[in-house]
Amino acid sequence: MGVRVDGRTFYLETANTLYQMKADEYGVLKHLWYGAKTGQDMEYLLDYPDVGFSGNIYDAENNRNYSLDTLPLEYATEGIGDFRIPAVGVRYPNGASALDLRYESYRIEPGKYSIPGLPAVYAEEYEAETVAITLKDTASDIRVVLKYGVLPAFDVITRSAVIINDGTQAVMVNKAHSLCLDIPYGHWEWVHFHGRWTKEREPERRPLLHGIQQSSSKRGTSSHQQNPVVLLCREGCTETSGTCIGAVLMYSGCFQTQIEYDQLNQTRVVMGMNTHTFSWELKPGNSFYTPEVILSQSTTGFETLSHQFHRVIREHVCRGKYKMIERPVLINNWEATYFDFNEDKLVEIAKGAAELGVDMLVMDDGWFGKRDSDSKGLGDWYVNQEKLPNGLEGLVKKVNDLGLQFGIWVEPEMVSEDSDLFRAHPEWAIQIPGRKPTRSRFQLVLDMSRKDVQDYLFDALSRILSSANISYVKWDFNRSVSDWYSEALPAARQKEMSHRFVLELYDLLERLTSAFPNVLFEGCCGGGGRFDAGILYYCPQIWCSDDTDAFERTQIQYGTSFFYPISAMGSHVSAVPNHQTGRVTPLKSRGITAMSGSFGFELDLNKLTDEEKEEVKLQIALFKEYGPLIHNGKYYRLSDPFREKYAIWEYVSRDAKKVLVHALIFRTEPNMLRYPIRLRGLDPDKKYRLREDGVIYSGNALMNGGILIPKVWGDYVPVEMYLEAIDA
Ligand code: GLA
Repeated sequence: MGVRVDGRTFYLETANTLYQMKADEYGVLKHLWYGAKTGQDMEYLLDYPDVGFSGNIYDAENNRNYSLDTLPLEYATEGIGDFRIPAVGVRYPNGASALDLRYESYRIEPGKYSIPGLPAVYAEEYEAETVAITLKDTASDIRVVLKYGVLPAFDVITRSAVIINDGTQAVMVNKAHSLCLDIPYGHWEWVHFHGRWTKEREPERRPLLHGIQQSSSKRGTSSHQQNPVVLLCREGCTETSGTCIGAVLMYSGCFQTQIEYDQLNQTRVVMGMNTHTFSWELKPGNSFYTPEVILSQSTTGFETLSHQFHRVIREHVCRGKYKMIERPVLINNWEATYFDFNEDKLVEIAKGAAELGVDMLVMDDGWFGKRDSDSKGLGDWYVNQEKLPNGLEGLVKKVNDLGLQFGIWVEPEMVSEDSDLFRAHPEWAIQIPGRKPTRSRFQLVLDMSRKDVQDYLFDALSRILSSANISYVKWDFNRSVSDWYSEALPAARQKEMSHRFVLELYDLLERLTSAFPNVLFEGCCGGGGRFDAGILYYCPQIWCSDDTDAFERTQIQYGTSFFYPISAMGSHVSAVPNHQTGRVTPLKSRGITAMSGSFGFELDLNKLTDEEKEEVKLQIALFKEYGPLIHNGKYYRLSDPFREKYAIWEYVSRDAKKVLVHALIFRTEPNMLRYPIRLRGLDPDKKYRLREDGVIYSGNALMNGGILIPKVWGDYVPVEMYLEAIDA
């Protein structure tokens, strides 16, 4: 396992997969294979047809069968006869754009490479190997180093590219994608994850169409609308069978995934920063680093693929004190009060919550400047004395005295026109000279690509975090970015801004998380608008969606779970009728749905009946018991809540001894047989006892026959079943 080189053929082997490429006699780096281990050089599968109108490289001389337009390539370029979608593009001072990359050298190193200024998978030296393959343009001094991280035990390969200008003149990099994956054979289907605010990451599956299809964001964030992941599967692939390939882009800004199904029925996937909002002036002697892509592959369906991504993201992307430990159960005041709160109200909410076992109070939007509504105050990161007369310190002390930790909401990258910050620094807000800026939620975006803005935010946020005993930060971002223009950049380099914005955000997050290592940072972007592996490098959890309705959440969390671990999804129990849908669901249903994540509450618990308070107490106690199983165990999607009348999901501990099944039965139907749920991931030879009634089942019976769902009554009915293996 690991990296092996045979002549000029590269074998990147993980426990169950092989990634293979070869630098051929012309120095072209061909992609040979990404799939199950074969133990063989897969070049025999390549065909060299003479395809009309597909050109031949000059050094192939009279060979009409050698064409870059038909071969699977490792990092496709443009301008030299491959007419498919390129992964990289540059423009020289004379206006030409061709790039002809040929093999130069390689290097193998123990451990996993890192990327300056960008989040990347990290690993110990014994867990990973890096291979770096250098390619050079035939006519210029542009080099590209393709980096591969191989994590054998995780069945994961990472990729990133470095574009280096060893010439004497600056070039413009117009496209610098992180991934290029050619798949020469098979009919593939594309599952992409689309949505909108309060309705994120809905899987949509369809066969590939000839030509280019894409998912992308131009919003400055990875977006609610499309997620920076790609999932390709063979026809008929299911949760438990069939071949699929997944890729996750570790990037939180404008991205682009393009999939081309070409004239020969070959598939090419490229993925990286969005070319609509990107170009980069690469000066002589400088290097450009692309963001990282995490790749994984499964021949046993989506479930295995998800398990691989969950593990690598939880263990090798998320960092910090809270990466593996149980997160505090929090109560957030947003849906309880919106902007209408003061110290007394917050303390009252905290008091009620403390009595029921909650660990932390999070004070949401509205505590600073003149922030009585969403039309003003953003940027003024100092306490609103009318609401909090004793300042942060006074409030936090009272909350701490109740036995609760304290967390705070911020939205650093934004500014309201009605704010002291905007009055002092109008030039810090993104706007195009001579044009009125686009407003969204009444607010403007700060030009994060400027170092002075970042420094200001670091100071402002450090001051807040040092001013009181603050244990948690919710980092929000409540609009899309438009009107791209930075006063700090010359005209020719304006398209660097969107990437610089993300680089400065990452730098700011790095500085703050290092300066405050005990603070838990939760990402947020109007809920799930920046739910990506880039943010997870700094914040181990992200508010999954502004939709807290239990039924809706079963769908949103189902979609999110294809790539992202359960511990990454911030999920709260909120009041009914639900504030987004008006739907009334039982408290227990809201509880089990919110437990499928980083658990919390978002309502005034004082308003509950005594019976409901007992239920909340029970939920917290259960979460304390089940939390490690939910977050460290394997997660199984036992139903598709978009297509079936129920959502059923299961967690199994890694030793297969503990099993928790949660379900929401959307509608009860009269006069029906109770149906069995077939469990997965158990030890077939073990016996399991169902906690609820003590009945014992064999693992084999539970996985093949299943377990009968209890009798239900009503709508959105919660089901909970906990089983533990018993000694024979
Ligand atoms: C966003 C968040 C919410 C809340 C509001 C406050 O929409 O997703 O949870 O914090 O902002 O304005």
